[in-house]
This record gives sequence, C-alpha cells and structure tokens, in this order.
Amino acid sequence: MALPKTDPTTTPAWQQLTAHHNAIKELHLKSFFQNDPKRAKTLSIEWDDFLVDYSKHRITEETVDLLLQLAQEMKLGAAIEAYFSGDLINETEGRAVLHTALRAKKEETVLVAGKNVVPEVYEIREKIKRFSDAVISGEKTGYSDKPFTDIVNIGIGGSDLGPVMATEALGFYKNHLNIHFVSNVDGDHVQEIIKKLDPETTLFIVVSKSFTTQETQSNAQTIKEWFLQHAPETAIAEHFIAVSTNAEKIREFGITEDNVFPMWDWVGGRFSLWSAVGLSIALSVGYKNYEQLLEGANSMDTHFRTSELSVNIPVILALISVWYNNFFGAETEAIIPYTQYLHRLSAYLQQGIMESNGKSRARNGERVGYETGTIIWGEPGTNSQHAFFQLIHQGTKLIPTDFIGFKKPLHGNQDHHNKLMANFFAQTEALMNGKTEEEVQQELQGSGLSEEDIQQLLPFKLFEGNKPTTTLLIDRLSPKNLGALIALYEHKIFVQGVVWNIFSYDQWGVELGKQLAKTILKEIENSEFGNHDASTLRLLQKFSQK
Ligand code: F6P
Repeated sequence: MALPKTDPTTTPAWQQLTAHHNAIKELHLKSFFQNDPKRAKTLSIEWDDFLVDYSKHRITEETVDLLLQLAQEMKLGAAIEAYFSGDLINETEGRAVLHTALRAKKEETVLVAGKNVVPEVYEIREKIKRFSDAVISGEKTGYSDKPFTDIVNIGIGGSDLGPVMATEALGFYKNHLNIHFVSNVDGDHVQEIIKKLDPETTLFIVVSKSFTTQETQSNAQTIKEWFLQHAPETAIAEHFIAVSTNAEKIREFGITEDNVFPMWDWVGGRFSLWSAVGLSIALSVGYKNYEQLLEGANSMDTHFRTSELSVNIPVILALISVWYNNFFGAETEAIIPYTQYLHRLSAYLQQGIMESNGKSRARNGERVGYETGTIIWGEPGTNSQHAFFQLIHQGTKLIPTDFIGFKKPLHGNQDHHNKLMANFFAQTEALMNGKTEEEVQQELQGSGLSEEDIQQLLPFKLFEGNKPTTTLLIDRLSPKNLGALIALYEHKIFVQGVVWNIFSYDQWGVELGKQLAKTILKEIENSEFGNHDASTLRLLQKFSQK
C-alpha cells in the first residue's frame, strides 16, 4: 500500500484540535495537576524496563483523544502495517523501509519483492558474529601475525553516527579494542586518528552504503596510502573491511570479497546501525551485547506494531510533538539524557529526525501549508544545566524536552547517582512549576534586602513555569534498553511523517550542496572561478590567494 496523500489540516480532528488549543493554551500545567490527582498515572505508560511519564505536558485527556483521532484520520494503523510489511513507502526512491527486518526474530517472515529477507539477515549476523569473535579473541591477526588492538570506522552520516553513539553509549560493556571514527573530509580529522595507530595492529572498516560518498572515499584512500607506506599490498586483505551495497566500487578499492559485509537498499543510512554498519559496535562490546541491542529494538517494534494507539509509546510521543509543533508553534525539542554515556544521542537523533522529517513537500508534491520537522538538540544532564538550561527556564521560547534517566548506575556509585537523579527530577518539576511572585518575595524577605531592592530584583527571579517535559525513566543502560530507546525514536519519526503527510525516508535535500561542492572543488583546483554570486566569488578568490 502507498501511504495516503491527505492534508492533515483538512481532517475534522485538526479543526477540533485548533479549537481545543485555543481553549486550553493559556492554562498552566500546575492547574492540570490540581484538577486531576490521577493525572500522573493516567498520562504515563509502563512497558518493560521503561516508565514514560507524559503528564507534565500541556495536554488534557481530551487533547490526547483528539490527537489519537487525528492519527486515525491519517490512517496510522494501516501505515504501520505497510511499514513493517515492506511496502514501498519510500515512494520517491521506490524502496521499502525495513530496518525493522534487521532485528526481526529468526522465525519471522519479511517479504521484499516476494522474497523472505530474514534468512539473509541472519546469514550476515552470523558472519558478524564469526568475524567479531575472531578479532576480539585474537584468533584473527594482522599481516605480521599480531592481534588487532585498534579498529577504525571510516564513514559519515548514518555510516558513522549510529556506531559512534552506540559504542559510546555501551562504553561500560567495552572490551580491550580501541575504536576510532573518521568521518569528516577535514584532513586534520584523519591525521589526528592516523597518528594514534600502528598499521600492524589496526583494522579498518570502510562503511558506506553507496561507496561513493566523497568524505568516506577520501578518508579511505588517505588511510590506504598511509597503510601501504608501512605494509605490503597483500596486507590490504587482512586489514580492510567494507560494509556497502556497491560490490563493484569495493572491488575497485581493492577489498576482497570475503571482507565484504553487504547492506540492502531497503535500509536507510540513518537507520542502518542494525545492519553490518554496526560491525564496530559488535567489535567493541562483543556479539552477545550487540545481539541484545537488536533484541531490545525488536521488542520495541513489537510494542509499536501491536499496542493500541492510546498506550503506544512512539505514537503518544509523536502526537505530543505534533501538538507543540503545529498548535503551539514550538520549533525545537531538546533531548537530555542523564548519563554521560549517551553524550552522542542527540547528534545521532539529529540525523534520524531532521534528515527524515525536514521536508516541505506533501506526498502529492505540493508545498505543505503547515510546519513539519522539529529541530533537535541536546546534551547530557547535568552539564547542560550549566550551559543552556537558563534559556529553557526563563527564555521566551517553548522547548518541549525529553528527560532520559536510569534507575540504576552502571558502576554502582549510588552517591553520585542520587545526586544525578535528584537533578533529573528537580529540573522537570522546576520547569513545570516555576516560581511565583509570592514565592520569590518570601525568599528575598529572608535575605535582609530592603523592600525597594526586593521589588527591583523580583521580576528577574520569577519563573513562569509551564514548560513541558517527558520523563523516560528506564531501569538501566543495558544494550537491550538502548536498542529499545533508539527504536522508540525511529518509530516516533515514522508516526510524525505519516501525520505530516510527507515522505520521511528520502533525503534529496542533501544533494544540492554536494553537487555544488564538486563544481567548486574543480574551480579551486584550477584556480578558475565560474559563475557565482558576488559574495561566494569574493570568498573563493580570498581563499585562493596564497
Ligand atoms: O548525508 C546524506 C547521506 O546520504 C546520509 O543519508 C547517509 O547516512 C550518508 O550520506 C552516508 O552515505 P553512505 O553510507 O552512502 O556513504
């Protein structure tokens, strides 16, 4: 089934949501809690190791009902089935969207053009297992028979961000291998990595779905040249691995067939960490943990595919996001994990969310008349509290924020964990409640300031509150829970794309800059500039002056 091409603003639910928004937009979150003592329980979902509390949002039960009605009028249920069944929902590229098949259970059937792809997926998983076991155990060695100590992942975008995020996130489960990532075409990036490496004990994984991406090709070439200054040509077979769909280009690069881990065109780059793109994750934490990551994602898939929309975590979080984006006019969302291990989570989700839903054309090709993709940003707490929380608390912008915290610390330092989590809970409470004039006054009266000074200071110390947050309280940062968390955001992306009537799985918007860069590169190399605007031309001339 193709996804329908309905403008969401023409649905009855959208009209009702508009009226409902007008009726409740001025209400303070505090009053929702005063009026409904059961709210914390009603507006939360407990699932597996997750408690998702969405009660600190500027919504009522009526809002949720209307949002669910919108989802139904946009035919979300059928769309979810089309997504999991391998229908060609990536219409502009004529592809299925099946990252979920990469973590399917062995006995499941997922058809692509009439063929069950699950056996192939498991074949590659078996290859990942054999390979990672052999490297970790030292059975597989480099050209001089020494075991590998360092792994370098060469890739960009989805071929980098997922592996970086996940290997950092699972740092607690890491083995002895040092994992490095080279992504930027900035030559200083690759040199900084190279200087840490010993060619005899380093394994290179070139990850590129297309195997044509400029950054990855340049970095792989530079690394290969450096490697061959130290090692014989035959050593390439021991030290270079490729993850890609492009067999021909891999061969041209000189990587042997045995060292190729295939990908499929039904997996988008930004959703590919579940494929062999995640090889560096398996190498870093071992196959068992890697498998757990996939299992966690699979259990979130089942939750998403089978739960009623009203108790479906990705659905509810996606609809709340639509509520702020389209009715309150919020432009950004912050994601704040209270664990340093997740310090690359928001960078990873930026690609997933913004490359997917940063679209302005409706599915019928016309320009949309409403807002789509949200801007995503964030950093771990508590660091972020000392950086940008001022703006969330007292700035003029409405920033719905996800707080992700864990009940148990990994190293068992309970004292630190209590402090960390005290901040976690305090922030969402403070953002919701704010501080009233009376409260500020009372506080200042005890400080010995004159009444005049108090009155002058008072407005600056006020907190309006009413700042919405979602709390995700998860048992612990295990590979399984990480898998479920990532899958949650993946499905949230999908739901929003369905509601916004856009195609979430292409990324034509990254092409124009790439094309122009090719032309400009030639011009820079020949010191001859073609037709540019006056600003670009002047900058290019300045750059070319020695
Ligand atoms: O930035 C565009 C993009 O196509 C991403 O979607 C993708 O993850 C990245 O480039 C890398 O592409 P490849 O894996 O083909 O090198």
